[in-house]
Amino acid sequence: MALQKNISLQPLNTFGINVKTKELAIIKDVAELKNILSNNLSPIYILGGGSNILFTKDFDGLILKNKLKGIQLINENNNEVYLKVASGEIWHEFVCYCIENNYCGIENLSLIPGSVGASPMQNIGAYGVEVKDFITEVEALHLKSLKTTHFSTNDCEFDYRSSIFKTKEKDNYFITAVTFKLNKQPNINTSYGAIQSELEAMGIRNPTIKDVSNAVINIRKSKLPDPKEIGNAGSFFKNPSVSNEKAISLKTNFPDIPNYPQSNGTTKIAAGWLIEQCGFKGKTYGNYGVHKNQALVLVNYGGAKGKDIYDLSSEIINAVNNKFGIELEREVNVI
Ligand code: EPU
Repeated sequence: MALQKNISLQPLNTFGINVKTKELAIIKDVAELKNILSNNLSPIYILGGGSNILFTKDFDGLILKNKLKGIQLINENNNEVYLKVASGEIWHEFVCYCIENNYCGIENLSLIPGSVGASPMQNIGAYGVEVKDFITEVEALHLKSLKTTHFSTNDCEFDYRSSIFKTKEKDNYFITAVTFKLNKQPNINTSYGAIQSELEAMGIRNPTIKDVSNAVINIRKSKLPDPKEIGNAGSFFKNPSVSNEKAISLKTNFPDIPNYPQSNGTTKIAAGWLIEQCGFKGKTYGNYGVHKNQALVLVNYGGAKGKDIYDLSSEIINAVNNKFGIELEREVNVI
């Protein structure tokens, strides 16, 4: 397959940043991927849905756009079904496929932008559910040796918005497929407050997984900007964890601070709240800014430079650090 040269990445990143890549390859099968890799000497970046990346400059290398497709039922028993899903499938379309077939578990993860391959990478999560609880295996191709490795759930070292693919093995693998174990019986999880109240507003008492998915879609649409309308990459920052001691002093000084004690002796703090308290929520700087309904989300209103958005994120990190003594970490990958 011929590589495309000097291509704009604007349609391939949900922030809508207009940068160029020296080379682009659209990957539709693994043999083709191996062939490209064996002839390549340039730096590589793998793009799934492009929904968790901020480009701050042109890319002087080869972008691999993942379009591997296919969903295979590989095993099932009375209670569970095992699906091996190609990594280029669109995450929300896969969630919809599961709902249609009554495969239960990931309905709370409806409408998360991005690809199936990115889901283990950052252990996507929302509304009380994390994808790690449904992944049994990740298949990945080593970019240098071109060998295929199968990572068990344990091997993936899943953590909050993280996995081995973001830490020790960062940039070493191309994830080719993910195997999910889903339930044939629903185990409805509406513990996350907003889902329950949304279902009540919808007049639903005994929700199906489709109802839960619809409730999540409604909540996400009301809080988060649609990348098709306003460029963004979802939460730009992670929710920080602090020691319980630090949490006590924060609660004394800021009684309203949203805080979630964890089982490991730390407390998670809502980054959106911290950012809002520093006065950034809804703030606009020409063609970019902080979203009006969710301060965790930085937005490109059209034509913004990645560098400007990056500088704004640094300004936010400094302001939060000065006010609360907490160093926010970016969730989005910056290039
Ligand atoms: N909050 C504010 N101001 C804001 C935003 C939030 O005060 O501008 C407060 C809320 O009132 C609430 C708390 O912060 O008390 C938590 O807010 P919310 O429930 O909206 O969730 P979040 O922590 O801001 C996380 C994920 C989202 C995910 C939601 C729902 C992270 C970094 N973000 O946001 O994920 O959809 O929970 O479960 O963990 C994403 O990763 O791109 C993403 C959107």
